Amino acid sequence: MIVTHTIGETREALSQAHRTAKTIGLVPTMGALHSGHMSLVDAARSGCDFVAVSIFVNPTQFAPSEDLDTYPRAPEADLNACESHGVDLVFMPSVEDVYGQGALTQVWVEELSETLCGRSRPTHFRGVCTIVAKLLNIFQPHRAYFGAKDYQQVSIIRRMVSDLSFPVEIIACPTVREADGLAMSSRNAYLSPEERRQAPALSVALQRAKESIRRSHPPAPHAIREIRDYLAHEAPAGTIEYVQAVDPDTLRDVETTEGPLVLALAVRFGHTRLIDNVLVDAPQRAP
Ligand code: PAF
Repeated sequence: MIVTHTIGETREALSQAHRTAKTIGLVPTMGALHSGHMSLVDAARSGCDFVAVSIFVNPTQFAPSEDLDTYPRAPEADLNACESHGVDLVFMPSVEDVYGQGALTQVWVEELSETLCGRSRPTHFRGVCTIVAKLLNIFQPHRAYFGAKDYQQVSIIRRMVSDLSFPVEIIACPTVREADGLAMSSRNAYLSPEERRQAPALSVALQRAKESIRRSHPPAPHAIREIRDYLAHEAPAGTIEYVQAVDPDTLRDVETTEGPLVLALAVRFGHTRLIDNVLVDAPQRAP
């Protein structure tokens, strides 16, 4: 496994890979790799000849009040995990190498970045799109893999790739969950034992709402109210940031639950912000 630290070294290793490998897959991460990340690596490994992972805690996607300094970092364990999952190259740059020369250019996807998480994190997706655009340019992969847990992130990246004609296929892999349903996240490590006990309520609330939509098609505000009530009861340590029912493509709020939609939420437990979502893609009326 090759480990690179600079953009120059990476481009050099990639130019060799582009000569010999038919398909190159990139898994962009911020490290502290868990089974969710490794499922992306495994998907890349089974679909591509050459698999690259980037590990970079990208400062531009954190607001000054957010957890950049305390974000979990585990470089040794990450390298071991990559090695044992058959990764060909890991790129672990420093902030200086990525942004050292200063940058006057940023990528901003309108509308899609302004709803859901974008309401409380107005600069977040600008940072995400800019770093992902840079990584796509550095690696020029045929495929790039992202987790569906960050539904909005994947939608925005797909739109960026389409609007800016990046020649890459964006693959969204299913959310990997703990046995009790909690979506895997590097931030789960911050939860206190009591918060951890309550956190699975997020996915349970979404699943219950999905079933109720498939059964009886309540108006969307009604489904949202059910989720909020369930969380108030089962996760009282959490503060709800948002619960929304949105169109899967435009991310605009929907009023009815007759068509496909995504239920998405963000809940804060102390300083730990958790997100989750569920796609309700083919609502069916009860027979
Ligand atoms: O999902 C993440 O871990 C990050 O937002 C990403 C895509 C690696 C960009 O820094």
